[in-house]
Amino acid sequence: MSTAAIVLAAGKGTRFKSETAKVLHRAGGRSLLRWVLEALRPLELDRVVVVVGHQGDDVAAEAAAAELPGTTTVTQAEQRGTGHAVRLAVESGAVEGCDTIMVLPGDVPLLRPEPLRGLLAAHAAGADAATLLTARLADPTGYGRVVRDVDQAVRAVVEERDADAATRALDEINTGVYAFDQQPLAGALAALSADNAQGEEYLTDVVAPLTTQGVGAVGGDPDAVHGVNDRAQLADVATILRRRVLEALMRDHGVSVVDPAATYVDADVDVGRDTTLLPGTLLEGSTRIGEGCEIGPSTRLTDTRVGDGAVVASSTCVGAEIGDRAAVGPYTYLRTGARLATGAKVGAFCEVKSSTIEDGAKVPHLSYIGDARVGAGANVGAATVTVNYDGFAKHQTDIAEGARIGSDTMLVAPVRVGREAYTGAGSVITQDVPDGALALSRSEQLIKEGYAERKRARHQQRAEGGQP
Ligand code: UD1
Ligand code: MG
Repeated sequence: MSTAAIVLAAGKGTRFKSETAKVLHRAGGRSLLRWVLEALRPLELDRVVVVVGHQGDDVAAEAAAAELPGTTTVTQAEQRGTGHAVRLAVESGAVEGCDTIMVLPGDVPLLRPEPLRGLLAAHAAGADAATLLTARLADPTGYGRVVRDVDQAVRAVVEERDADAATRALDEINTGVYAFDQQPLAGALAALSADNAQGEEYLTDVVAPLTTQGVGAVGGDPDAVHGVNDRAQLADVATILRRRVLEALMRDHGVSVVDPAATYVDADVDVGRDTTLLPGTLLEGSTRIGEGCEIGPSTRLTDTRVGDGAVVASSTCVGAEIGDRAAVGPYTYLRTGARLATGAKVGAFCEVKSSTIEDGAKVPHLSYIGDARVGAGANVGAATVTVNYDGFAKHQTDIAEGARIGSDTMLVAPVRVGREAYTGAGSVITQDVPDGALALSRSEQLIKEGYAERKRARHQQRAEGGQP
């Protein structure tokens, strides 16, 4: 027995009112299509055919990115309905030799492997030509309804648009997930017409003719089959997906989430044991967090790695690496290529990009560090700036091990401050500083005794109309 899945992902998603194809919209850190493909992954099917059309190249690339074995795409240039899409996939030969064809919409991100396994098992156990995955919904609006006869046998699926009042009152819906025997399916697809409210070939119209060869149904969890047809439904499923990710982190990985309603973790993020996520934390993309960290509040980490025992407070980090026991924030911006080694600190109101802050080095306040190395144990005083851009190119600053950069130093790159060297506060450093030296570039301090009194007197004279 070999089994194929056909995933329908050619539609534009008109109800999204978007330039982007519906299945590429994201919830919980993955596209809608990716969620469906991830639900299929553990089933290890022989073939997976993704039907693409609207923005077909992008959707095909998204399908390929999942690297699900046996995946191919078939193009449906004109979206003439779900039945048309399946017909093209079958006629393309992409599922040739597969006895069982599972069909899934590309817009049901809450689907999990279990109900799909259950559907395939029920289909294999029965003698029916088709088995539907159905669900009973408190509010079935928008879905196709499953019509049964007095003996409870499935008779048809009727789309809401084509349904009369009695059919609309039915609460059992078609989830859009089915298992078919290939031969009867191919026959029923060949007979489809577009004579309905949408003028499309509905896949649901194969159900009534197939009843002569038997149509079964298995009931699924209503939550798991939530279709996403507009952005309000996208937000609904994102909430459910987020909750699932957080529960897995809390129950299976020993992560403390102080307020799950205010914490946003993408599906592919890893968080280690005994790490605490404070409210307002967003962990996105390929972010990986070690054990025993404290992240948040109000922190957004995108594609960022964090070691063990680190603290990141009220900060935004994109493409950064934060080492073990490092401290970041509050109010810090780490950009791509910012690398903090073990025990490094980047404190309040700092920005760091393409720079390494080595072991135990500190940039505690109000600084910009770009295209630089801050050597182990060095200290960068408040309001220091690496002046890395001359209007044409970026240049490197090297602050060697143990150097002490005075507050408000401008380091005009390319420049090097030697090991254990000092720069005086307020200096503009344009030349390399030798190891162990002090560099000072500011005018000597003047003292003008009695200045305040003289100034006051001048002011008073002016006010009385006299000469200054
Ligand atoms: C469909 C079902 C409905 C079911 C619901 C479950 C039909 C006619 N209706 O309705 O019974 O309750 O799913 O979510 O099948 N697509 C294509 N090519 C096309 C048209 C659609 O690939 O020509 C794809 C879409 O991109 C989408 C999926 O098929 O991923 C479902 O299409 P959609 O328009 O969302 O169908 P629904 O109206 O939700
Ligand atoms: Mg839909």
